[in-house]
Amino acid sequence: MDLKTLIRNIPDFPKPGIMFRDITTLLNNAEGLRYTIDSLTEKCLELDLKPDHIVGMESRGFLFGVPLAYQLNVGFIPVRKPGKLPAAVHTIKYDLEYGTDKLEIHQDAVAAHHKVLIVDDLIATGGTAKATADLLQKIGCEVLGFAFIIELVDLKGRRQLPDLPIISLVQY
Ligand code: PRP
Ligand code: HPA
Repeated sequence: MDLKTLIRNIPDFPKPGIMFRDITTLLNNAEGLRYTIDSLTEKCLELDLKPDHIVGMESRGFLFGVPLAYQLNVGFIPVRKPGKLPAAVHTIKYDLEYGTDKLEIHQDAVAAHHKVLIVDDLIATGGTAKATADLLQKIGCEVLGFAFIIELVDLKGRRQLPDLPIISLVQY
């Protein structure tokens, strides 16, 4: 199945000059959604990735991280934007093009030596995935790799990431 036919391209969103890759049309398609989750699962099995947990980033990482966790029979841990998680958190601050941002994870969700796979819908600059990996490594987790539906290749996000397996189903 050609997933690109199910991903909608919206020019000039959210700013002029940006071609936004919209996964809502993929999610809305029953066969496309099943194929996407099955493909992620197969690639994890091919690469022999056996995480204890899937970690997914707010918000679109949740959409794919949870079903992948279900398929791999492991739990799911959300990484969220600041102020959203109710219990005690670990926080990481990271640089954006203009300014900084933060991501948080519950302190009691993961422990040192847990093996985790990081899942998001899309890698652009790689800043979000790198910050998430740094956060998990700071805690002492073993990051096994990364899985994305979409990779925006020109932005060279994978160069930001540690030398680990990186799954991406569709490249632009
Ligand atoms: C998007 C996307 C990734 C991130 C990728 O999330 O879902 O998480 O940006 O960009 P990067 O590789 O340059 O860091 P966004 O911050 O728009 O949040 P959302 O999922 O809540 O829409
Ligand atoms: N699509 C969806 N999310 C994004 C994009 C995009 O093209 N670029 C950065 N985040």
